[in-house]
Amino acid sequence: MKVLAGNSNRPLAEAISTCLGVPLAKASVRRFSDMEVFVEINENVRGEDVFVIQSTSFPANDNLMELLVTIDALRRGSARRITAVIPYFGYARQDRKTGPRTPISAKLVANLITQAGANRVLTMDLHAGQIQGFFDIPLDNLMAAPVFEKDIRNAFGDDEITIVSPDVGGVVRARALAKRLDADLAIIDKRRERAGVSEVMNIIGEVQGTRCILVDDIVDSGGTLCNAAVALMEAGAKSVGAFVTHGVLSGGAVARIAVAPIEMLVSTDSIQATEAVRVSRNIRQLTIAPLIAEAIMRISEERSVSSLFS
Ligand code: R5P
Repeated sequence: MKVLAGNSNRPLAEAISTCLGVPLAKASVRRFSDMEVFVEINENVRGEDVFVIQSTSFPANDNLMELLVTIDALRRGSARRITAVIPYFGYARQDRKTGPRTPISAKLVANLITQAGANRVLTMDLHAGQIQGFFDIPLDNLMAAPVFEKDIRNAFGDDEITIVSPDVGGVVRARALAKRLDADLAIIDKRRERAGVSEVMNIIGEVQGTRCILVDDIVDSGGTLCNAAVALMEAGAKSVGAFVTHGVLSGGAVARIAVAPIEMLVSTDSIQATEAVRVSRNIRQLTIAPLIAEAIMRISEERSVSSLFS
């Protein structure tokens, strides 16, 4: 097995390599002066089972291109099997036509990865499960749920908690975590009755007097979480925390979350923390390195990946 890292999240790649006991393969990713990406694999990969770790997070287009070029280099270097390990799969939110003449960019990205030469994909908490069907190669979609479950049990002990989905789209994910924790489930239903009229938030389920935990796949601007937290506090929640797999946290998200009624936002390290995240008073990261390393090992040894979650 060979493990290779792109530049999007070196600390995670190094932690995965440590868990596996396999050093990162020597490769250099450079830029021409016009910023074209150039990749050189500096060791033999002929006949090898190669795993390329690269999240397509900010800067999404550069990181995606780096992944594609690396896969191409490995294919031309006669790697036996190439697995694209994409802890955060960018462009996933563009998974359907949202209006006339709009793209389905998640499908385009799936085509690009396949055409570049990947034989399989390993990712985590895809925005929508059906994106798996955009690939005609095998895809393993890991869940951060076991990592979150452990942390919630440690942090909340015997407190009465309610798992909350901040929108109807996230109910399946939230319900799965609620089931693991044997906790109640609530759902926030956002509705804008007419254009230009502010959004109404209805909470489906009982939250009064309980410690609420919002669960989502992505926190980007932070708007969804912050609005949900305010609605939950107004409905009588004792406290609000959040567990979100991918901390995109763009623009003023960190500052927005700092002043929101969110005790703690916990994300994974699928995306490398910025300095603002590192020093934030109410954001922390949990590592998914052992989980990804275990999945890589199982793929390499042709063992079950799904049984990791049963
Ligand atoms: C939407 O369907 C996603 O699951 C997230 O809720 C959304 O991407 C969060 O975005 P933001 O943090 O910008 O509100």
